[in-house]
Amino acid sequence: MDKFKIERSEPLCGRVHISGAKNSCLPQMAAALLTEGTVRLENTPDLVDVRTMTQVLENLGVVVERAVDGALELDPSQARRVTAPYELVRRMRASYYVMGPLLARHGQAEMSLPGGCAIGQRPIDLHLKGLAALGAEISTSEGFVHLRAPGGLRGARIDLAGEHGTSAGATINVMMAASLAEGRTVLTSAAREPEVEDVAVMLNAMGASITGGGEGVTEIEGVRHLSGITHRVIPDRIEAGTFAVAAAITGGDVVISDCNPAHLTAVLELLQQIGVDLEQGRKTLLVRSHAPLRPFQLETKPYPGFPTDMQAQFCALATCCHGTSTIVESIFENRAMHAPELARLGADIEVHGRTITVRGPCAMTSAPVMASDLRASAALVLAGLVAAGGCLVNRIYHLDRGYENLESKLVRLGAGILRISE
Ligand code: UD1
Repeated sequence: MDKFKIERSEPLCGRVHISGAKNSCLPQMAAALLTEGTVRLENTPDLVDVRTMTQVLENLGVVVERAVDGALELDPSQARRVTAPYELVRRMRASYYVMGPLLARHGQAEMSLPGGCAIGQRPIDLHLKGLAALGAEISTSEGFVHLRAPGGLRGARIDLAGEHGTSAGATINVMMAASLAEGRTVLTSAAREPEVEDVAVMLNAMGASITGGGEGVTEIEGVRHLSGITHRVIPDRIEAGTFAVAAAITGGDVVISDCNPAHLTAVLELLQQIGVDLEQGRKTLLVRSHAPLRPFQLETKPYPGFPTDMQAQFCALATCCHGTSTIVESIFENRAMHAPELARLGADIEVHGRTITVRGPCAMTSAPVMASDLRASAALVLAGLVAAGGCLVNRIYHLDRGYENLESKLVRLGAGILRISE
């Protein structure tokens, strides 16, 4: 497994381009199953998760090609199979996005249950609740969930509130299925993430009739047929946020281009409170940090609240702030595995239940650390940039799942990062 050797960095300077959003691209690839026409997705990141989704779809009979301009072209005209097997689903939970489209197009779907993962239990009950409300008969056996709707799906009123708020994944899955159901579906407590809106925009371009996608209450008037289209994936807000923290933590001066700052409001407001200078354009963000950083309080919330996918990076940033910062993770029950690793680098960090406390500024020193999940890995890379003597981050395959060319983008801004392949 590859590792990163990271040197303590000078302030990062320069311009970085943001890739397309992983969390839009994955369901949009699955949405190709809703049509027989060719779907062309532009601005798709080249990530391990995107390659895994490619394999999931190829396994179902979709022909997927990457064009010379980097766009993904998906031809589902010969896709007849309805089973997503264990070998693929266990590698990526987001394989669940094939359930809704398969059920809507073929009246059946079978998926290996995704099981738990490093950041908590992550059930799929809300996905199944929504698909059952549309008329699916659901059973489980031998580690698989079986969904059947021989008579087709019918629109329904569905509330997607869960114990920890709503679910982006369930909202998208049910929205995709409802697009081809008979009659009207009304989703309440639907997720408001920009990726949900982006999928709704794509489905409407395919011929769906969705209003309020990404607005909490979403209405879907089912149609009989969806067509192939070309769609451009929105920029990855979490990648942009991670580079903003990289600039802030190193006292740098970075232009983040091809992003959408409007999708990062909660993150940018907090950076400003901490003392980071920001200039926002429509597609660019300038991040400058010189002054000592102030400590902060944050609690993760469904969008438009502070994203759980930025929590770990802000734990790394808190080690450079002057005072005690408090970070509450309210979405996932076990998303603090970066805390003991940051402690190995010298962070004064404690976890009590869902609350993480960091007393800064911490004298960060060199140590080998182990990445446990995607965003935890990003936090360790950020901490490595300010650790005296740098650090060695083991098991960086998580980063390759979700960040396109992270190390080369950081190196172009002046960081010293070497990938060691084994
Ligand atoms: C998506 C993102 C992930 C992000 C997360 C929260 C993708 C591929 N992944 O994951 O990067 O961290 O949103 O912003 O888009 N829940 C249930 N039952 C369900 C589904 C979810 O209880 O059926 C719970 C989850 O355990 C969690 C919360 O709802 O506590 C939010 O989960 P959800 O928004 O569904 O996350 P994902 O779509 O899995």
